[in-house]
Amino acid sequence: MKSHPTFEKLRIFAPGPTPVPEGVLAVLAKSPLHHRTKEFIEVLGRVRENLSFVFQTKQPSYVLAASGTGAMEAVIVNLFAAGDEVLTINGGKFGERWGKLATSFGLKPTILNVEWGRAVDPDEIKRTLKANPKIRAVLFQASETSTGVYHPVEAIAKTVRENSDALIIVDAITALGVNDLPMDKWGLDAVVSGSQKALMLPPGLAFLALSERAQEHRKRANIPNFYFNLKAEDKAATTGETAWTPAVSLISGLDLVLLRMKESGLPAIFSYYSKLAEATRRGVKAMGLELFPKDTPSNALTAVLVPPSIPEGKKIVSHLRDRYGITVAGGQDAWKGKMFRLAHLGFYDELDMITILSATELTLRHLGHKCELGKGVGAAEQYFLENNS
Ligand SMILES: Cc1ncc(COP(=O)(O)O)c(C=O)c1O
Repeated sequence: MKSHPTFEKLRIFAPGPTPVPEGVLAVLAKSPLHHRTKEFIEVLGRVRENLSFVFQTKQPSYVLAASGTGAMEAVIVNLFAAGDEVLTINGGKFGERWGKLATSFGLKPTILNVEWGRAVDPDEIKRTLKANPKIRAVLFQASETSTGVYHPVEAIAKTVRENSDALIIVDAITALGVNDLPMDKWGLDAVVSGSQKALMLPPGLAFLALSERAQEHRKRANIPNFYFNLKAEDKAATTGETAWTPAVSLISGLDLVLLRMKESGLPAIFSYYSKLAEATRRGVKAMGLELFPKDTPSNALTAVLVPPSIPEGKKIVSHLRDRYGITVAGGQDAWKGKMFRLAHLGFYDELDMITILSATELTLRHLGHKCELGKGVGAAEQYFLENNS
């Protein structure tokens, strides 16, 4: 049975791409501006400035036509020279990606493996840096989307600063606009993100900001590159343009998103997502489920262990999709079929979280898990009532 007899109602609760607000869809539906016109240059100028506001930096921001991985690659090819030693924190699929990228471009990564579900211990980073004094950068995720864990960015940055000259490079693809990551205040050297997460746009834009220290490092970079050459971007920026044809429609949509985010103010946004996240965590726990993270969970998504009562865990994801038109993410690698992940970053509200918790309860019951209907939903509702007056 489908969720509706005539049209299927589709809902996305995966940690990206996330739903796009109607006002933004309306902007995306307009005829694209030409990218070398005064009108578009004005939009792009505002977007760059407002992105720096969201990154919480005085430095300029880059907007690239790519998915988030493009910004990760741009960092590698613009900041390093072949053979440079770097430290990558591998606590999940995306941490692993930093290591793969570094290796692909001829860097020498020391990989600090962290058990999936755990956050990295800054003391481990300290020990690794002391043992490998040639390390030029530490690359990690703020929110490791494959495990739903938040790595302690502020403490990591402090440790790295106190114990080395290494650059602090943060993949904030599911953290920018969710968690407070004041780039300048915490001394983060490169922060990357993408459009299809908390910035509520379709996929296709990658964002990047670099500290002054990181800009200095660019002078000795020698990794071959072309599309992601930031010198070309800097040159184009002198006339307010981009080096190549930008994703003009997405940038126009981003303009609206950033203006609205600025109006809301970052503290209100961070506190909003922390509440959606907490309500969701309480909801799944009330269903008798266990959270996957053993350390601080990310406020972008809730990763949940499949209960022993459901031996075929993949059925949770497929039943949600087939019966309710809901897309959630399953587990990756060794955790396929053993975990599922519910998103709350981007354009979600309290009632959306009630909906996904309700669909999860119905699905668990359908698959034989013995939970009392309404318990998960009730726990989230209770939390919202007490915390959002
Ligand atoms: C933390 C993190 N890093 C990197 C990526 C890769 O981004 P993209 O798929 O936009 O290239 C993702 C995507 O989900 C992510 O969540």
